[in-house]
Amino acid sequence: MKTLIAANWKMNPGTYAEAVSLVKSVRVPRSENLEVVFLPPAVFLKPLSEVFPHHLWGVQNVYFESAGAFTGEISAEMARDAGASYVLVGHSDRRLKFGETDEVVAKKAAAALEKGFRVVLAVGETERGGEANVIESLKKSTEGVLSQDLERLTIAYEPVWAISTTPGAEADTPEHAASVIGKLKEALDLRYIYGGSVTSENAGDFLHVPNIAGALVGRVSLDAGEFSKILKIVAK
Ligand code: PGA
Repeated sequence: MKTLIAANWKMNPGTYAEAVSLVKSVRVPRSENLEVVFLPPAVFLKPLSEVFPHHLWGVQNVYFESAGAFTGEISAEMARDAGASYVLVGHSDRRLKFGETDEVVAKKAAAALEKGFRVVLAVGETERGGEANVIESLKKSTEGVLSQDLERLTIAYEPVWAISTTPGAEADTPEHAASVIGKLKEALDLRYIYGGSVTSENAGDFLHVPNIAGALVGRVSLDAGEFSKILKIVAK
């Protein structure tokens, strides 16, 4: 199974020109073991995917309906038309800042999977020590996902306290992440990746853990040099 490195740009960079220059500067090594997906802001997706068709592209969020009176939302079909093959759902920004519940995340995941996307579904406890809730959240966030679609679903374990934008954040330890992922895997045996302050310094430690099949990278995905170093580590 390939190692998945997903670049979650969040609401960055500020302009399309900066986005182009970022992608141009990233060195994606040719490797059988590596799958890299860029998740830019949706308004940049169509031109980026046309300028860089050899990369994999995705969106940071979709709505579960296909069309209609849902002002401000985009559908999975629109994301596909813009060049996406991946969809991220359930990121903690969406959950905590936009009030997305496990039930909404489940509907989004199921809808995107049914439409043939590869889906990365993020779960993670907000406070250190809150892991017990993550299994429950995972179960609820995948309710209604068809078993034949599970093969295209990847879970990102992202403890919110470890995400670089959380005040005082520091990366989880590979041991702790592996132990939580081990428990999640008992509940749902899928591909798991880790997210939360991944850098070129710690990526190797996480990615050597057998349970951890990749990384969801935020801040460092905006730094072409550092991000390229992570890709190089995986490709080795
Ligand atoms: P970070 O973000 O790598 O900046 O901690 C990860 C994420 O929020 O997906």
